[in-house]
Amino acid sequence: MATISCSLPQLPPCTHSPRPYTGPAKDEVIALRKAHLNPAIFTYYAKPLMIVEGHMQYLYDETGRRYLDGFGGIVTVSVGHCHPKIVAAVNRQNEILQHTTTIYLNPVVAEYARDLAARMPGDLKVCYFTNSGSEANDLAILMARAYTGNFDVLALRNCYHGGSMQTMGLTSHHTWKFNVPHSFGVHHAIFPDRLRGPWGYGDPDAGRKYADDIRNLIEYGTPGKVAAFIAESIQGVGGAVVFPDGYLARAYEHVRAAGGLCIADEVQAGFCRTGSHYWGFETQGVIPDIVTMAKGIGNGAALAAVVTTPAIAQALTSRIHFNTFGGNPVACTQGRAVLQVIDEDHIQHNAARVGARLRSGFDRLAAKHDIICDVRGLGLMLGIELVKDRKSKEPAKAECAQVFEHCRDLGLLIGKGGLYGNVLRIKPPMCLTEADADFLVEVLDESLRRL
Ligand SMILES: Cc1ncc(COP(=O)(O)O)c(C=O)c1O
Repeated sequence: MATISCSLPQLPPCTHSPRPYTGPAKDEVIALRKAHLNPAIFTYYAKPLMIVEGHMQYLYDETGRRYLDGFGGIVTVSVGHCHPKIVAAVNRQNEILQHTTTIYLNPVVAEYARDLAARMPGDLKVCYFTNSGSEANDLAILMARAYTGNFDVLALRNCYHGGSMQTMGLTSHHTWKFNVPHSFGVHHAIFPDRLRGPWGYGDPDAGRKYADDIRNLIEYGTPGKVAAFIAESIQGVGGAVVFPDGYLARAYEHVRAAGGLCIADEVQAGFCRTGSHYWGFETQGVIPDIVTMAKGIGNGAALAAVVTTPAIAQALTSRIHFNTFGGNPVACTQGRAVLQVIDEDHIQHNAARVGARLRSGFDRLAAKHDIICDVRGLGLMLGIELVKDRKSKEPAKAECAQVFEHCRDLGLLIGKGGLYGNVLRIKPPMCLTEADADFLVEVLDESLRRL
């Protein structure tokens, strides 16, 4: 049986004091949720955790206990929980105007679109706003079909693009797919799986080899013409899978040769998370035709966007396209404040610096714990894959779940993913400090030691 270390990792000090919690007790919330909420939702952890307050990279439960948030509400809190500058901007807007639709002029959505477009490369200058990533991807596919006049869409195995009927068809994990017709016209290419696939990390030509499956799929599975290819810039739910160099460039060549548009899903990898670039696709040296964004765009607001070129955007004018909350002034104020905070707080630089520290800590853990077979990711989008045996690579799903519980006990919240649920996902708010990173690595070390 594992022994308990006498000196447990300590959270770095924090001056924030959570308010005393006066709401319903945890058991009451569990009962309410059981009685009145969708039974398909699930909670993390054997004993569910109740979160009642957040401050930057920290979360507090109802007893006032502080946790380091290593998952950002599923990669959504990009610059910090209740970031004071964002709260102030949104509070101001809440007092002035909470809702108007695009049938009237309002400066907030226009200025926000300008600011967002200013951060995009090439001719990506026109924004559509939606409320969720699934809606954004739905719209991107519609746009590509309307623009090209083609129907077939290519996606990658191991991807996650949402849970609406259409995006469920794009998503490529059986665990997220209901047994209903949803994938009509969607084809899944093999993903560049350098851990388990035919071309590994040692193959300098892996990017080209994996991308050539896109050409095969077009030739064998479609009329030779496609509407679009959609890919996350780093696969998130699939377990922080980073593509080999040259992969997207080659894949885009095949797609464009077949008349298709290239869609980058930046829902998780965007807004500086990679540390080296503002957008994940830039790490592959490509410029997509359509970019979809959600989660980190709003730091917790129900906000998402599709950004494309003026010519492609024009394709949707053949019918009315309308979204009640798309462009909502409160959500757009929050989005605009996020852009400002990214600049003012030097978020990209921090993601690179603290991400590198985490990464080297994880590499040290991999040298020490045989259960770790792969450490991957970029910046503050990292994954640690656990296996029962490094040779067979049999996924260590149960062990991953145990590590996950131990982390929570020690004050660290992280995510898990991958098709087999054996990848620890670390994607914290990007205000994480180096002291937080050291705590995170120490907690993981202790949690792995307890197995
Ligand atoms: C890469 C990616 N795309 C799209 C989505 C769907 O976003 P939403 O849950 O806001 O619909 C997600 C959600 O996890 C995602 O990770």
